Amino acid sequence: MDTKYSQIMNEIKEEITNGTLRAGTKIPSIRYLSEKYACSKNTIIKAYNELEKQHYIYSIPKSGFFVVNDVTPSQDIPTTQRVDFHSAGPDKEAMPYEDFQHCVNQAIDLYKGELFSYSHQQGFLSLRKQLVKHLQDRQVFTTPERLFVLSGSQQAIHLLVPLPFPNGKSNILIEQPTYFGIVESIRLHNVKAFGIELTMKGINLERLEYIFRHNDIKFFYVVPRFQNPLGHSYSNEEKRKIVELAIKYDVYIVEDDILGDLDTNFKSDPIFTYEPTGRVIYIKSFSKIMLPGLRIGVTVLPELLINNFLRHKFSSDLFSATISQGALELYLKNGMFNGHIERIRKLYSTKMEKVQLACELYLSPQSYNYTKPDTGFYLCIYLPKEVQANRLVVALQQENVFVDDATRMYLPEFQKENLIRLCISQVDEAQIVFGIKTIAKYINLLKNQEVRLVEKPNHLFL
Ligand SMILES: Cc1ncc(COP(=O)(O)O)c(C=O)c1O
Repeated sequence: MDTKYSQIMNEIKEEITNGTLRAGTKIPSIRYLSEKYACSKNTIIKAYNELEKQHYIYSIPKSGFFVVNDVTPSQDIPTTQRVDFHSAGPDKEAMPYEDFQHCVNQAIDLYKGELFSYSHQQGFLSLRKQLVKHLQDRQVFTTPERLFVLSGSQQAIHLLVPLPFPNGKSNILIEQPTYFGIVESIRLHNVKAFGIELTMKGINLERLEYIFRHNDIKFFYVVPRFQNPLGHSYSNEEKRKIVELAIKYDVYIVEDDILGDLDTNFKSDPIFTYEPTGRVIYIKSFSKIMLPGLRIGVTVLPELLINNFLRHKFSSDLFSATISQGALELYLKNGMFNGHIERIRKLYSTKMEKVQLACELYLSPQSYNYTKPDTGFYLCIYLPKEVQANRLVVALQQENVFVDDATRMYLPEFQKENLIRLCISQVDEAQIVFGIKTIAKYINLLKNQEVRLVEKPNHLFL
């Protein structure tokens, strides 16, 4: 939201960072600025309060506002040296902070104490009602009674992995490779898991049938669109077939549609659409498409699972933070979400297009294979057999290019050590060509054993 107060804030920030307003100096009075900008004193006070929150200025009672000594707040440290294909959060420029701040304030005004009291274990009822409408527009037809608001979609996964299911079966099937969060959850709960190989051509449906028939599968965990890590999406026909097999062999589907909102193919349906009565457990998250710090995920459960799931959710954290829920309800209700999603849909599809063009320029001529999703966050590069992913990751760190080794996204029996994942969401567009060119260069160097490695610490990301 481009408000007057943010314009004033930006101008003052600019004067502080370029040195016109020096550390320790008093900044202009509220009255002076309200006359200069022809706005109310409240607008200036709001701008000053926000600048104070961001540590650009501080106030001395009865004296006014002053510029802080360290005038370089951490969020302004240039990151232009870093080519970040590693972080998997949303593009920071696209996070709707200000609109959401407005909704937080509105939610507090509207709900008052209710927002800060113990709340319903299944989630704030008015948000669940709003989510029912929201999901309807995405071909997921359900009721507030079947819907749970959770602390991120990871919580849905972690609670479902050990849960007894109505089919009385005990093993889990996952795509290989897949999202690390479920691999880790399976390991922590000591649940037996089977894998099915996934490539950009999909899965082998005969193999799927064989596994369903012989391996006591409780549920098949699927990321149907822009999969993490490959970027793969199933066609509607494949989704329909997966559902047919699941019904035939009494297997549940856990559909993690975390990036579904980025789909530019409006004919693509969630798997849930093909069996809405409970065979498919639908999971949605507001982390990648909005703000991971909200910790809001949603799941639609079969009626038979609700009571047991409720007990597990209760024992885990009673209920998910209500302030995020109240604000999200208003964000959805007043149409802000729809505007936001249109903007980011365009943003990520354009970014992916640029990454694919760079791959075509620098990887294709050397016959290095990579996945080609239309949009989403992820793509992968398959490395030649001489190049190990962990060595490439370290070599690239020397050039400040950060990519992710996909080894941990496999079960031990499927483990491959020559896949790297690139996440495009936080990479600066201006760095894409340099980043891909450097990756191609280092694949060559490692293949020909022409590089020395110096290890730098790295962090674990999802
Ligand atoms: C496929 C997938 N599912 C779930 C999650 C967890 O997201 P959250 O708990 O923030 O909703 C992630 C995070 O990267 C993911 O990639």
